[in-house]
Amino acid sequence: MGVIMRDNHAMKRRSLLTMIPLMVVGASRVARAQQAATVYKDPTCGCCGKWVDLMRKEGFTVTVNDARDITAIKDKYSVPQPLRSCHTALINGYIVEGHVPLADVKRLLQEKTAVAGLAVPGMPIGSPGMEVAGVSPQPYDVLAFGKDGKSRVFASHRGA
Ligand code: CU
Ligand code: CU
Repeated sequence: MGVIMRDNHAMKRRSLLTMIPLMVVGASRVARAQQAATVYKDPTCGCCGKWVDLMRKEGFTVTVNDARDITAIKDKYSVPQPLRSCHTALINGYIVEGHVPLADVKRLLQEKTAVAGLAVPGMPIGSPGMEVAGVSPQPYDVLAFGKDGKSRVFASHRGA
């Protein structure tokens, strides 16, 4: 009887020990899933590729979709006309339009800001992925926009 009880105990301990690493794997899988991003870009866009590289460096799992008609994508996701840039990214239900610094993307995900997305309109020189050697960076704003198309300044930068 005593032997059987000890065995039971050992088995319980063993199953608990094997469960712990499984739980850790599960948690990191969730964290990784939260950092999945889909980027739509023109296949010939070089600066888009640079921004995707920066995202990957920051730990995002990026799926890149080359879209011949990028305007159709922006229409589909209702990116406000004046805020449009080259590429459009979808991250955790948010739209991230153009060369938005990754620190701002992370802040958006962390704060779960009640907006449709962030945008850096156009392609300001010096924004991430838009660095041009020998050309001085220009100041630019990251705009947060709502589903109604209204926007406000989310962050202001001077490109590096
Ligand atoms: Cu660009
Ligand atoms: Cu781009």
